Amino acid sequence: MSDHLDWISHASGPLRGEVIVPGDKSISHRAIMLAALAEGTSHISAFLEGEDTRATAAIFRAMGVRIETPSASQRIVHGVGLHGLAKPDAALDCGNSGTGMRLLAGLLAGQRFDTTLVGDESLSRRPMQRVIEPLAAMGARIDAQPGDLPPLRIGGGMSLCGFEYTPPIASAQVKSSVLLAGLYAAGETEVREVHPTRDYTERMLATFGWPIEFSPGRARLCGGHRLRAAEVNVPGDFSSAAFFIVAATLVPGSELVLRGIGLNPRRTGLLRVLRAMGADIGEENRREQGGETVADLVVRHAPLVGIEVSIDQVPDMIDEFPVLFVAAAAASGRTMIRGAAELRVKESDRIAVMANGLRALGIHVIETPDGAMIEGGTFGGGRVDSVGDHRIAMSFSVAGLIAKDAVRIADCANVATSLPGFVELANASGFALAANPA
Ligand code: S3P
Repeated sequence: MSDHLDWISHASGPLRGEVIVPGDKSISHRAIMLAALAEGTSHISAFLEGEDTRATAAIFRAMGVRIETPSASQRIVHGVGLHGLAKPDAALDCGNSGTGMRLLAGLLAGQRFDTTLVGDESLSRRPMQRVIEPLAAMGARIDAQPGDLPPLRIGGGMSLCGFEYTPPIASAQVKSSVLLAGLYAAGETEVREVHPTRDYTERMLATFGWPIEFSPGRARLCGGHRLRAAEVNVPGDFSSAAFFIVAATLVPGSELVLRGIGLNPRRTGLLRVLRAMGADIGEENRREQGGETVADLVVRHAPLVGIEVSIDQVPDMIDEFPVLFVAAAAASGRTMIRGAAELRVKESDRIAVMANGLRALGIHVIETPDGAMIEGGTFGGGRVDSVGDHRIAMSFSVAGLIAKDAVRIADCANVATSLPGFVELANASGFALAANPA
């Protein structure tokens, strides 16, 4: 993960053909977690074999769960039941994954034994107060470093009580952490959200047989039930598809088909925003897969115009802003983004890092505390730093497709956290992207 890797992205001709992106990261994490706590043997297919989700699987192995890997995208998980995890011998390493750490904090708060959660350099700078506060209100004991930063030391043997919580920020990780603690709590746990966020934890709990009531912005469950083994077929990750959607939109003459992409409405804000900017994105073969709507997306080149992104769309596209910055920079006119301060505490400060990178390529960007103003223009070549943020690296590889000169992108190794094989997948569809170990 810490290996140094740089990329060079060049202008390319049209992008054509079909792309199959790996399974959804959020769903893959949750599938491993609930399968581990279920009774019986669960089968997960189209699992994302990325560093983040592998870290989560390794954590459950360290707590005594047998997980087989018949192929890269399959997992067979021999669940140990809600109370069957064993005390690990060492700290549990979540790697780069905020989802891993925040969801596990809730789940581990209900165990009989103490645990410690650690992460890499980026994760060690990310705020954990957002989960510590509600979990402590449920009776959990969690110690963090000054500033509420990881590592987290989670006390075992605590009696948790159900809780009604309205998170102050839109966060599926916070909601999920509270709900997972709620499995171990006495009584009812309810999360109400001002802005509904992705409901994968709720759906996955239902798939594994836990009684739960949920609707957009509300989820309610009681402790004391059981999880039962299930089959999970993970849809294609919309956030991974997003790079190809923007790439095909920007490169003249492109027509790309993206197969089997998960279209949960709490994930697809970027589709709505790009269409409002003029993008030509069709949907074919809409179908259900493992309780989620999936479809094949057909993306054709189209000129874009700048837009004022509605604040309501922000939670539904929270992971797609880096690539939206690139689309906005290639659009005619101005794009305004507001209400997205959460971007500053992702794997990097995505507002600052994208603004710096776009400026290095000759685009006029003004940063604001919770967003940016981006003036559409033409990309020159240049050097940008992804600061080890996977989505920033992939976003600038898209910028390179329409830049006048090569775009050199530093520190790309963490792309393997969410989309290993991106370079091969991108080049097969027509990118001109070279990995260049420094
Ligand atoms: C995720 C929730 C989002 C998202 C992250 C995955 C999840 O984070 O950015 O990539 O799987 O629950 P927040 O809860 O911090 O918004």
